[in-house]
Amino acid sequence: MHAVVITEPGGPEVLSWLEVPDPVPGPGEVVIDIAASGVNRADLAQRQGLYPPPPGAPPYPGLECSGRIRAVGDGVTGWQPGDEVCALLSGGGYAEQVVVPAGQVLPVPGKGGVIRAAAFPETACTVYANVFQLARLAVGETLLVHGGASGIGTMAIQLGKAFGATVACTAGSPQKRNLAALATGGRLVVIGRQGGSRAEIDLGVLQGKRASVHATTLRARPASEKAAVVAAVRDQVWPLIDAGQVAAVIDRELPMSQAAQAHLAMAASEHIGKILLVRE
Ligand SMILES: NC(=O)c1ccc[n+]([C@@H]2O[C@H](COP(=O)([O-])OP(=O)(O)OC[C@H]3O[C@@H](n4cnc5c(N)ncnc54)[C@H](OP(=O)(O)O)[C@@H]3O)[C@@H](O)[C@H]2O)c1
Repeated sequence: MHAVVITEPGGPEVLSWLEVPDPVPGPGEVVIDIAASGVNRADLAQRQGLYPPPPGAPPYPGLECSGRIRAVGDGVTGWQPGDEVCALLSGGGYAEQVVVPAGQVLPVPGKGGVIRAAAFPETACTVYANVFQLARLAVGETLLVHGGASGIGTMAIQLGKAFGATVACTAGSPQKRNLAALATGGRLVVIGRQGGSRAEIDLGVLQGKRASVHATTLRARPASEKAAVVAAVRDQVWPLIDAGQVAAVIDRELPMSQAAQAHLAMAASEHIGKILLVRE
């Protein structure tokens, strides 16, 4: 098969469309013939050598994909070759094929078709795990989304509204109001570090509001935890997509061999929503 290989850490020019070995499914895994892969901000950090894939993950970038199941390993139930699916990956989405634990596979939701389904797994799982499972957003509460125009942000806004919260967001680079904006009992969940890793927190403000701060990542979690998030997303979020209440916001689709152009566009923050790489 072909994959986008990071030939050495560096700029977008280090991404090369090369022939690599086909993946083989182990027990409990499936191989997907990829139709499309979503581009995520983390892929840019991986390309620069700043975000290595977790042990056992494919070395190629790509945290989500859609396509058709090509082969299933021993012990896989519920999926068979030919099924149209999308999947949450630990890596390897920028390729013609990928191997993934069956617990991270989802059916293609809604009526958007198999290519657009690549926009859902990483955003839906990240938002669901952080906003609903960790921060326990409740009906009638207010959700403030920083970076509302991002792939993650456009999903967080829709899911927050669909689950009955009042949603506000920031875009561009206005003054960010993290601790000051927290309500009494508020929960600040940090999932990105684009403003840098270090910040000062006034514990007195947190105490006064009985508020909490969490910092999490999805990719490093074990397959069993990812499978639990995926199962909850299938149960709670997929019906909203099927009903047309939540949709993918797709900025553009590019051929997979032009991954470098996609990274340039994302680095420039030209996009609103998701950038997809489509297999030629
Ligand atoms: N922890 C996890 O498990 C996890 C999972 C997925 C994503 N993430 C993180 O979530 C974020 C969004 O991911 P994405 O793939 O949706 O990326 P994306 O579409 O490229 O969006 C990036 C967003 O970051 C905003 N931004 C840029 N520089 C910033 C700064 N210095 N301070 C605050 N915001 C800034 C941009 O806002 P404007 O365009 O409005 O300027 C843009 O909305 C990334 O930081 C990513 O690493 C974390």
